[in-house]
Amino acid sequence: GLPARVRIHEVGARDGLQNEKAVVPTEVKAEFIHRLAVAGLTTIEATSFVHPKWVPQLADAEQLFPMLGDIADDGDVALPVLVPNERGLDRALALGARRIAVFGSATETFAARNLNRTVDESLAMFEPVVARAKAGGAHVRGYLSMCFGDPWEGAVPVAQVVRVAKALMDLGCDELSLGDTIGVATPGHVQALLSALNEEGIATGTIGVHFHDTYGQALSNTLAALQHGVSTVDASAGGLGGCPYARSATGNLATEDLVWMLEGLGIHTGVDLAELTATSVWLAAQLGRPSPSRTVRALSHE
Ligand code: HMG
Ligand code: MG
Repeated sequence: GLPARVRIHEVGARDGLQNEKAVVPTEVKAEFIHRLAVAGLTTIEATSFVHPKWVPQLADAEQLFPMLGDIADDGDVALPVLVPNERGLDRALALGARRIAVFGSATETFAARNLNRTVDESLAMFEPVVARAKAGGAHVRGYLSMCFGDPWEGAVPVAQVVRVAKALMDLGCDELSLGDTIGVATPGHVQALLSALNEEGIATGTIGVHFHDTYGQALSNTLAALQHGVSTVDASAGGLGGCPYARSATGNLATEDLVWMLEGLGIHTGVDLAELTATSVWLAAQLGRPSPSRTVRALSHE
């Protein structure tokens, strides 16, 4: 059966804005995140503590994160941040981050392009990050990219994904997010991967799904995952997104499209859809182009 409630892991401010050609002013990012919290989102990925030359769009993490202190202090909203290595962890912990995410790859090509490492070298890079974060009481998410297909390597075998997923969980990650970085997954593939992970001892309750909507499959894939029992779903407000190091990655599943479906299914999210849509319309005006989300367009009569 379907879960009674779904926790939406909002990635627009990170996965979305990291892919904008123009650098969005820090004040706009801060207002965006505040508005997402007002709209009822409770897990809002804020930024990344990565190398500023690799992702210049998020080079203002030191300025942005302290501007979210009121949200962090409130305690009801979590503000996870991406951290690739110990240098990133030091930067995040210095600002009081309580939730971090490391991000591995199921394929060698993407590991090289995104992290300048082999798959196993990146796992070695994450090991002290996860250990230190856990020792300090932080929550750790392990992203796994290219779980279905890779723009350079093609279809990715399930066994290859399972191996790296297990390795991430063995490091001590609390949660695993399955990334369909370039949006090529289809529902049967999603359920096959979830079953294979379960068979290797990774419980559905620790798994989140992270779909990009390149081929228009993100919502179908999400429903397939919900039917499998998954209750953590990544989405980005307005369908912002992509990955600067993955050719052909477009926006994430739009949070509004997700909320529309979940409301129709009677699944609780706590999100105020009108407030969220207004936020995406406002951000689209800041970015100078309309939101690709069908639900945003329908509800805002664009
Ligand atoms: P590298 O060039 O191998 O770095 O990059 P290094 O370890 O050799 O260090 C070189 C220099 O960079 C050193 O400085 C370090 O201190 C500095 P020097 O001693 O030479 O003066 N440095 C840093 N500075 C600031 N912050 C840091 C940091 N790390 C090193 N954290 C590295 C390796 C991992 C740093 C680089 O490849 C990187 O930053 N990659 C991030 C790429 C990224 O953010 N991609 C997007 C996120 S992933 C994604 O979008 C997918 C996802 O959405 C899921 C899905 O859809 O599949 C999550
Ligand atoms: Mg992504």
